[in-house]
Amino acid sequence: MKGIVLAGGTGSRLWPITKGVSKQLLPVYDKPMIHYPLATLMAAGLREVLVITTPEDSESFCRLLGDGSAWGMSIEYAVQPRPEGLAQAFIIAEEFLAGDQAALILGDNLFYGPSLGRNLAGLTRQEGAHVFAYEVADPSEYGVVEFDESGIVLSVEEKPAAPRSSYAIPGLYFYDETVVDVAKAIAPSARGELEITAVNEYYLRAGSLTVTVLERGTAWLDTGTFRSLQDAGEFVRVMEDRTGTKVGCVEEVAWRNGWITSDELVALAEPLRKSGYGDYLIRLASSANALPPTQPGANP
Ligand code: TTP
Repeated sequence: MKGIVLAGGTGSRLWPITKGVSKQLLPVYDKPMIHYPLATLMAAGLREVLVITTPEDSESFCRLLGDGSAWGMSIEYAVQPRPEGLAQAFIIAEEFLAGDQAALILGDNLFYGPSLGRNLAGLTRQEGAHVFAYEVADPSEYGVVEFDESGIVLSVEEKPAAPRSSYAIPGLYFYDETVVDVAKAIAPSARGELEITAVNEYYLRAGSLTVTVLERGTAWLDTGTFRSLQDAGEFVRVMEDRTGTKVGCVEEVAWRNGWITSDELVALAEPLRKSGYGDYLIRLASSANALPPTQPGANP
C-alpha cells in the first residue's frame, strides 16, 4: 500500500489567511499542518507517499518536505489544477500507485491516539475499502456513515441535511487496488466534485466497505476554520507540554520505525536546535529507555 496526502483545496473558510499560503502549510503549534497527516501515514508503516497540492503551492511543499530520503522514505509530488474533489486524488495518483493499494489522508486532518499507528498498520492490506466512524455533534457538515449493531455499513451520505447517524467519516481512508478505476467510474456531484462519498458508496454497493469506530480516546481534529485551527494548536501544545512527547513528529516516527538510525536522528536535529525542536530529537536519540521499536506501529 502507498500513501496519499491531499493538500490542495481553496481554504476559503480561512480567508484571508489562506489567500497567500496553503492551509496545509500553516502552523499547528510547533510544526506545519501537513506534518501531522504525514506522520499518521508513516506511523501506519507507509514509506512511499504522494503529496498532492495546488500548482501554486507545490514548490513550498517540496522545499518543506523534500524527497523524504532524510526520513528514510520516498515523497513524490503531484498537482491538482483545480479543487475538483477528494476522489480526484486517485486519478491524479494513478501513475504513482501503479496498481498498488492506497491510503488517502486529508492534509488538514489531525489524528492522535495511543495505539493509532499499530491499528492503522493492520489496515495496510485491504480487500475493498475501510473508513472510520467518529461521533460528532453536527454530522451534517461531514460524510456520514450509518451502521448496524454488528458494524455492517448501511449507508454513507455526503453532508446530509438529515443525517441517519451521528457518526462522521474522518479524512483517512484505506482502499484496495481497484480504487483508481472506481474513482474514474463515478460522476461528479451537483457541486461539481468527485466525492469521496461516491467512491465509498460504490464499495458499499459491492459489499466491500467496512467501518470501525475510532478507538475510544483517539482525537480527530480537522483544521479548516479559525476556531478549529486554533483548537488544534492548543490541543498539540497541551499534549506536548503535559506528556513531554511530541505529536506528529515525523523525525521521531521515522526513527521509531527503524527507517533512520539514532545518528541520523541527531544529524536531523542539529539545525533545529534554536527552536527547541531539535533538542527533543536529541533527547530521544540519547534516552536509554527509548530504544526504537523496529516495526511500524509507533505512536505518531
Ligand atoms: P475542504 O476543507 O473540504 O476544502 P478546502 O480545504 O478547499 O477549504 P474550504 O472549504 O475552506 O474552501 O478540504 C479538505 C481537505 O482536502 C483539505 O486538506 C484540502 C483538500 N482538498 C483538495 O486537496 N482538493 C480538493 O479538491 C478538495 C475539495 C479538498
